[in-house]
Amino acid sequence: MAIVIVVGAQWGDEGKGKLVDFLTHKADLVARYQGGHNAGHTVVINNEKYVLHLIPSGVLHKDKVCIIGNGVVVEPAALIDEIKGLRERGIKIGGNLLISKNAHLIMPYHIALDNAGEKMRGKKCIGTTGRGIGPTYVDKMARTGIRVGDLLSPEVFMGKVASNLKNINFLLKNLYKAGGFSAQKIFNEYMAYTKILRKHIADTDLIINEAVIAGKNVLLEGAQGTLLDIDHGTYPYVTSSNSIAGGACTGVGIGPTKISRVLGVVKAYTTRVGSGPLPTELSDATGEEIRRKGGEFGATTGRPRRCGWLDTVILRHAAAINGLTGIAITKLDILDGLEKIKICTAYRYKGKTYNHFLKETDVFEKCTPVYEEMEGWQESTLGIKEFKKLPSRAQAYIRRIEELVGVKAHIISTGQKRDELILLRNQF
Ligand code: GDP
Ligand code: IMO
Ligand code: MG
Repeated sequence: MAIVIVVGAQWGDEGKGKLVDFLTHKADLVARYQGGHNAGHTVVINNEKYVLHLIPSGVLHKDKVCIIGNGVVVEPAALIDEIKGLRERGIKIGGNLLISKNAHLIMPYHIALDNAGEKMRGKKCIGTTGRGIGPTYVDKMARTGIRVGDLLSPEVFMGKVASNLKNINFLLKNLYKAGGFSAQKIFNEYMAYTKILRKHIADTDLIINEAVIAGKNVLLEGAQGTLLDIDHGTYPYVTSSNSIAGGACTGVGIGPTKISRVLGVVKAYTTRVGSGPLPTELSDATGEEIRRKGGEFGATTGRPRRCGWLDTVILRHAAAINGLTGIAITKLDILDGLEKIKICTAYRYKGKTYNHFLKETDVFEKCTPVYEEMEGWQESTLGIKEFKKLPSRAQAYIRRIEELVGVKAHIISTGQKRDELILLRNQF
């Protein structure tokens, strides 16, 4: 038995969905531990593409228990849409999908506050997904949040909505010059959602810990990535939750002593959506080519992703902060055909060299990467399933990443599809 965390090692969109789907073959239970429907996790099976936002990427396997943990923020309408969309495509969703009573609800006013806040920040905006994520976590920490379990007590729910709206409507009208919300309307809407979701609401911490005691294989799926973590990312250009491995323990209610492995998902180059520093960003034809070939457009908002060379400084940071036991390198095939490939090994700022991630976001924004150059490979790696079949220069690239990051590659992904990967070490 094993408890495995899958965590993004960069700025999100590393290919976590594909990896979680693959690892679910051997898992009994898969749980999301933070974030909300700001996430977009893509899984391609044969030629069918699925994008999961809130539901764990293990849902495409029959008979696996899928849990939305307490650390997740849930927009009920989005969740219902996702369930409906999957059912229409023949995916069975019944008692196997469970939502924590302690997960916080995204309310319509959180979405309004998210968008109004971004508008007010103007040029300094974070570039959020506009899904209400930040304001929902604000309410959670301020202890004014409304939880999924509150849906089961209509009076409690109504009391909390009415109380919150006193402040929020004042703020919306007077600060943001936006429209307010009616408590009754929200109540009616959310009670209708409750009718649909009621059977999925559960004490998920008990269920997960029972599975752990029973010796089951548990997979904990992170959203976003290490550099988008609220504490360890490029603050304030981050999301509002702990996306790192530590967030998995708080986000589902498992003790740290139970975790067996932490697999960091590393895209073979770097991408980022939204604002904030990205030292290795390529604003030239190579960046454009990587975006085009890699289909680097947001799975949630459709925005073009900013692309750049691999940055091993942030990967060393990710290895340390998450306690990575292995890495999965994805999208190797996208680098096929490049003449030269660069790897960032350090940063330069005002004549000094830095070998570690810079916490001062304004400095990180201005530092220049120190690159090491490797010869690219001209052969196709698409769909290769054995390490020794990779072109020797691609093998050298993988080995150099392992050296620079100090963590071994356990999986190498060579295509979008479920079976397009090289498995070097089992996780379960
Ligand atoms: P996530 O948010 O970490 O789950 O990643 P996304 O789904 O947002 O973005 C990753 C994209 O890359 C998706 O379109 C995947 O289908 C795709 N992908 C994942 N692994 C590979 C790979 O090894 N090669 C290629 N070509 N595409 C991949
Ligand atoms: P997955 O799980 C990439 C980014 C947004 C924005 C910042 C804050 O698919 O990897 P938020 O709406 O969370 O308040 O936005 O975080 N962001 C992501 N970028 N992948 C994601 O998820 C992201 N979720 C949020 O673009 O810069
Ligand atoms: Mg994504």
